Amino acid sequence: MTKRYLTTNQGAPVADDQHSLTVGVRGPILLADTIYLEKISQFDREKIPERVFHAKGAGAFGHFIPYKSFAPLTKANFLQDPDKATTVFTRFSVAGSSLGSADTVRDVRGFAVKFYTEEGNYDLICNHIPVFPLRDPLQFPDFVHAIKPDPVANVRGGPIAASRFWDFMSLRPESMNFLIYLFSDTGTVKSYRTIQGFGVNTYKWVNMCGEEWYVRYYWEPCAGVACIDSKTAAHLAGTDPDVAGRDLYDTIAAGHSVEFEMQVQVIKVEEEEDQPFDILDPTYIWPQDMFPLLPVGRMMLNRNPENFFAEVEQSAFSPAAIVPGIDFSNDRVLQGRIFPYGDTQRYRIGTNYLQLPVNMPRSPVDNMMQDGAMQFRNSDDIVNYLPNTLGGGMPAAAPKKGKTPQEYVSGNVGRQEIPGDNYYQPGCRYRSMSGMEKKHLVSNIIESLSQAYEPIQRRMLEHFMRTDSELGSRIAQGLQV
Ligand code: HEM
Repeated sequence: MTKRYLTTNQGAPVADDQHSLTVGVRGPILLADTIYLEKISQFDREKIPERVFHAKGAGAFGHFIPYKSFAPLTKANFLQDPDKATTVFTRFSVAGSSLGSADTVRDVRGFAVKFYTEEGNYDLICNHIPVFPLRDPLQFPDFVHAIKPDPVANVRGGPIAASRFWDFMSLRPESMNFLIYLFSDTGTVKSYRTIQGFGVNTYKWVNMCGEEWYVRYYWEPCAGVACIDSKTAAHLAGTDPDVAGRDLYDTIAAGHSVEFEMQVQVIKVEEEEDQPFDILDPTYIWPQDMFPLLPVGRMMLNRNPENFFAEVEQSAFSPAAIVPGIDFSNDRVLQGRIFPYGDTQRYRIGTNYLQLPVNMPRSPVDNMMQDGAMQFRNSDDIVNYLPNTLGGGMPAAAPKKGKTPQEYVSGNVGRQEIPGDNYYQPGCRYRSMSGMEKKHLVSNIIESLSQAYEPIQRRMLEHFMRTDSELGSRIAQGLQV
């Protein structure tokens, strides 16, 4: 083996990487110090923008195996054969927090899975809370602004942060279902091994005959669900702020796998109108007594990333990454998610982010798209357009897989609110909680809401009263308003 020695990024040998090139011991540094200039300018560019949302995360590789063939429901290649494992990469994250924040803060946890299927990448991007606070994606940037630090002092705690958060929520009462989950102990966790994942949005599965089902996804942790109370969360935030990332890494490094069962709820698309609520509305759960859970398969995470930046920070998930057999419903929030992930990734990582090893499909990529910064997929063909005769005509079109369902949509064009009941489901959830769960929920809400300005407290109280009068009264008592 040739002996390793220090080099520049150009491969030239470096004899001294510790002392800059100066005039004498006390003189200025020379512009000709290429070793210093290269090292410092690489350092200057070490960071890429953090994700606008879900900035802090941890990830692991593994595989997914379905329990049986799901051919009657979907033609998705990775769900056909119980003997076929599909490689996956999963990234868990803390939604509203910035890089460097604590893993245990009260927040939504993200749970994004990339399946490297034979028909391209399929990204299933979930959260650990089953509902979303909005019905319209146009409000998403406002929601994120309201929960992030304020633009003046950039601080997270205290009356301004609490007032901004509750101000927004009190004006968007469709967030009530979400808030009841967030302020229960579900909102504070110390391990990614014990959180559930929820697709939240309604997707479609399509089989070879062109039949379609509406689908809601679940990930159930095989280690069981666990959360922590706010006191433990606050303690860990101070003593072990990266506890969830560390726990995931250490578990896998010790040779254990981290496992989740995929489950789905399905109904035929034609049955949409028969349901007692809007099943395309992500502020609602689909109750399990009405829509039983169907076990689909198991995901085993058993390989740590070799390098955090390369594989976790640069990983890029998008709801637009679907494969034949999986489709979008007209859930407005899902429709609004199709574009922005790839858009922000082109900015956050670069035009050719899908060529990075963690993001690259394991199936062949073949089209006439070209160039852009950091291009590695260089064509040696003079033909880079379609149609053509020079390159042997049109490339073979991908074979049509099964029958394509026909969708007919009509309606008046306009900006229209989706109507909905904001209080029924969160009220039911509150009433189904144990005494201890209710106690924690109430005190967690009081702890945060009591810091907000009083008119906002009053506005929020009305929503809690309408959710459940006992819940509202207990919060009112705690707030003393
Ligand atoms: C209005 C709807 C939404 C919009 C516009 C939106 C947009 C975004 C954007 C721009 C990112 C940053 C992506 C990146 O930098 O790579 C992101 C990340 C993420 N979002 Fe959403 N989002 C929405 C709703 C949701 C919902 C409903 C879920 C859960 C089902 C979700 C789960 C996630 C997760 C888990 C990540 C982090 C992905 C990763 O690990 O890289 N989002 N979202």
